[in-house]
Amino acid sequence: MFAIIGGSGLNRIEGLEVVRREKLSTPYGEPSAALTFGKLDGAEIVFLARHGDAHVLAPHLINYRANIRALHDCGARNVIAVATVGGIREDLIPGALVVPDQIIDYTHGRASTFFDGVEQPLAHVDFTQPFSGALRALLLQAGAAAGESLYDGGVYGATQGPRLETAAEIRRMARDGADLVGMTGMPEAVLAREMGLCYAMLAVVVNAAAGIGANRDGVAIEEIRAVSAAAMKRVATVLAHVAECHGR
Ligand code: HPA
Repeated sequence: MFAIIGGSGLNRIEGLEVVRREKLSTPYGEPSAALTFGKLDGAEIVFLARHGDAHVLAPHLINYRANIRALHDCGARNVIAVATVGGIREDLIPGALVVPDQIIDYTHGRASTFFDGVEQPLAHVDFTQPFSGALRALLLQAGAAAGESLYDGGVYGATQGPRLETAAEIRRMARDGADLVGMTGMPEAVLAREMGLCYAMLAVVVNAAAGIGANRDGVAIEEIRAVSAAAMKRVATVLAHVAECHGR
C-alpha cells in the first residue's frame, strides 16, 4: 500500500474517496493526525497530514518517529512525501515540481533515529542514496502521465525552521550544493529508511529562497499561500497517476 504524507497546503487530497479514518498510537507517541484510508484512482492509499489536520505542528515539533511507525504498522511500504520548498537553484522557480535525489541535513535536536540503543539496539543504515530509486522513477512516470514535467533530481537541504533562512545561510547552502530548502525532509527520510520503507519526495517550489531572484530583499510570505494552493491541484493530479503507473 502507498502512503502519502501531505505537507503545508496539502492536508487533504482532492479525489480521494475516504473509506475510514483511524487514530493510531505507537511506542513513540501519537502521529500528527488520524490516518485516512481511502481509494485514489482505484488504488488503496493511506494519507497522513504531516502538520496535523489543522496545520498547527511546527516542523521541529512533528513526531516523525510516530508518523513513520504508524504508516509502517498500518501496512504501508511505499511513502510519497509531498513537501513545499524554497528554490535555491535559479531555474527552480515557484510552481516547479521536483523529485529530489539527495539530502543535506541542517536540522538539530530532532529525534532522528529508531536505532538509538534505547528502544532498539544501535544500528547504522546505509543512506548513500536517501530516496528510493524505484519510487522516484514511478513519480517521474506519473508526472509525465499527468502532463507535468517534473524536475528529475536535486539536492534538498533540510533546515530547522520555523523561521525562513537568512540570505547568507542560503548562499552557504548553495555553495554546499543544495538546490532546494525545506524544513521537514529530515528526519522523515532516514526514519523511513530505518523502517525499511521505500521513500521518495515530491517537492513543490512555493517561493524563491531568501536572497534569491525576486526575493533579494525578503520573502513575500503572502505569495507562498497562493502559489501553494495552485500547485497542490497539480500535485493531486500527479498523485492520482501514481496508482495507474504502478499497475503497469
Ligand atoms: N525555506 C525553508 N522551507 C521552506 C521554504 C523556504 O524558503 N519555502 C517553503 N518551505
